[in-house]
Amino acid sequence: MTLNPHRQYMSTRPTPQPCQKHDHGKFEILTRDGAARIGRLHTNHGVLNTPMLLPVVNPNIRTIEPREMWEEYGIEGLITNSYIIWKHKKLKESALSLGIHNLLDFPGVVVTDSGTFQSYIYGDIEVGVSEIIEFQKNIGVDIGTMLDVFGRPDMSLSELEYAVDETARRAPESLEIAGNNLLLNGPIQGGTNEKLRAKSASLMSSFSSQYHNFTIHPIGGIVPLMEKQMYKELFQILLASKSNIPSNRPIHLFGCGHPILFPLSIALGVDIFDSAAYVLFARDDRFFTPTGTVKLQEIREWPVSSRAFFGLTPEQVKNMDKEERTSILSRHNLEITQAELAKCREAIRSGKIWQLAEERSHSSPQLRVAFLWVLEQLAYPDEGPIGDSILDIISSTNPVRKGGENISHDIELRPHILHSQALIATRWKIPGSWWDNSKSSPKNLIIIEKSSPPWRLSSLNSIISHLIETPNSIPLILTPLGIIPYSLEDLSPWCHLDGDNDMWNIEYDDKEILEFLSELNLENIPFVKIKPESDLHINSDSISKIREWLDRCSIVDKLSVLCSINPNDGCKLTSSMTSRKSNTDRMVNVYSEGLHILSPRLNDGGISLTLEGAKKLSDNRIPNSFDDHDINSEFLGLPKVCINDDAKPFVGIGRNVMHGYILAADGHIIPGQPCLIVDSDGKLIAHGIALTSSKEMNSFKKGIAVKVRDGALKNNL
Ligand code: GUN
Repeated sequence: MTLNPHRQYMSTRPTPQPCQKHDHGKFEILTRDGAARIGRLHTNHGVLNTPMLLPVVNPNIRTIEPREMWEEYGIEGLITNSYIIWKHKKLKESALSLGIHNLLDFPGVVVTDSGTFQSYIYGDIEVGVSEIIEFQKNIGVDIGTMLDVFGRPDMSLSELEYAVDETARRAPESLEIAGNNLLLNGPIQGGTNEKLRAKSASLMSSFSSQYHNFTIHPIGGIVPLMEKQMYKELFQILLASKSNIPSNRPIHLFGCGHPILFPLSIALGVDIFDSAAYVLFARDDRFFTPTGTVKLQEIREWPVSSRAFFGLTPEQVKNMDKEERTSILSRHNLEITQAELAKCREAIRSGKIWQLAEERSHSSPQLRVAFLWVLEQLAYPDEGPIGDSILDIISSTNPVRKGGENISHDIELRPHILHSQALIATRWKIPGSWWDNSKSSPKNLIIIEKSSPPWRLSSLNSIISHLIETPNSIPLILTPLGIIPYSLEDLSPWCHLDGDNDMWNIEYDDKEILEFLSELNLENIPFVKIKPESDLHINSDSISKIREWLDRCSIVDKLSVLCSINPNDGCKLTSSMTSRKSNTDRMVNVYSEGLHILSPRLNDGGISLTLEGAKKLSDNRIPNSFDDHDINSEFLGLPKVCINDDAKPFVGIGRNVMHGYILAADGHIIPGQPCLIVDSDGKLIAHGIALTSSKEMNSFKKGIAVKVRDGALKNNL
């Protein structure tokens, strides 16, 4: 099988449609898993669905024709170098007369670089700051790049400062010349200096012309780090830069295209990659697998399959002439690149991007070191820009997700688990009264140990029998990830841990238990550990009262942990609560004074409010700003989003809240959890599930901010 570079393609993909004028350059999030997001960037040649890779196309050497990339590989956008085109007379003339899309024969999004990388490789370049922008504009590029100053990692502080300041100095002029049609990359420089990276990001994101600000922020100057596999430094730079990049602008890792770096980069918030690696490695007889690079000469069988390799043996490829071999290997590399990105996007959709990053971290020692460094930052966020980004990652991660949670060595520091633990630690409180209506302080803690979920089946009878004896006891469960209140027994991920059965039998000594208890402020209360007895039969008139109390605790605690409702308010709301149960004896609907206020979600342990519940939990507070999320906030009430009058009639009848119509949003909004929507007088308009954080609601201008469950104005209109 040979691939004919001159093959004519019957187009099967529709020509991309230009975006609506008002969407030009806008980015929206469709799905997210913490900082990882599936987004759409709108351009004049269609949409870039992110996370994605822009393959580098050298206009002089087209190993894979752009048309083939479009037709056969689903490539939506590519990157080429405007400086190379500008320098070569023939190319320049063709680009100016035909336009870049015709020159390359590519109907999708064309991104161009500016010559900065050539200046890093070859020294001085001949083109000027405004000249190269003018040229990119004149050849019809979709997203161009300003001429930034490449900051090498080995530069002195003053050289790096110059790179940052000079890049920033050139920015306003570049944006001005780009005008309305050419979107621009605003690269972030600063070497490995965390403060300079944060400064560069802050400067570059502040510029705006009458038409646009920078559409994308590439992190520049990182190629030398990737060549030396200095991945820890790479992620340091990314996190430091990210702290000051507005969340509605895609982040691009300039020159990064090795698939092993995709999952962790994406988990930390990267949206776009670009690289010539697929062809450079091929020329060097190397090919990609998702876990590393393989030398063709060293193998007898394919360790990975692809369309390019299908029907060929390694021996046959080795015996091909150089051009044909490069052609096969580069196509294979492009396929693996695309497949790994698809895998990452699927992992975002299923809430498993962190697990994928964790798995891939074992692909290379350098990547493992980098991953462990990231875990350290998650465990102990510092006070600088890196710590800010880390806290953002944790707080924007939905703590609750359905499906199994694979146990691994690194599980405890997965952002959603850290978020869940932080919420329980700050918001779970000792019950205000006991099943017998007494109100004394707790006498002891009943810690269920060596018991596996579902704990309502394995441990309930043992808990009840202890509560009959000592009503003022707090039931808790010892899990492989620490201690949780029994009231949260069906909350994921605690109840969905997937691993060897022995993990439920781990012995913890009292010192370890006290450490777990101190997280919940319970270390000063005596505890008893009990192993539940499976065939325990209890016969007492109190059983139904105890079960009612446990049900109530579960609702009050979920409202406080997930919705920031003060437990005193939760207690009032549930004082006369009743419930409808499933045939497996689980609460499915909860009623207060006869009104259906919420439904516990059986698959992940979260709660779904009803409009009646939202009304009862609404107070008079009106959010008037976009606050920063404080991970230690206790009970600020159900988070609120305040919308403008234009959106009210739509949201009031149940339409989603769109970005661009939001006046203010509480900082303690958690993507994936309930929130209220109010107008500027504080009147309840709707309730729903937040999809973005307060910070994101402040910056995004497109896409859904809150998926509305029900409008409060349906009967008024
Ligand atoms: N390509 C790889 N790194 C860089 C960079 O820092 N700036 C620009 N403009 N292009 C790059």
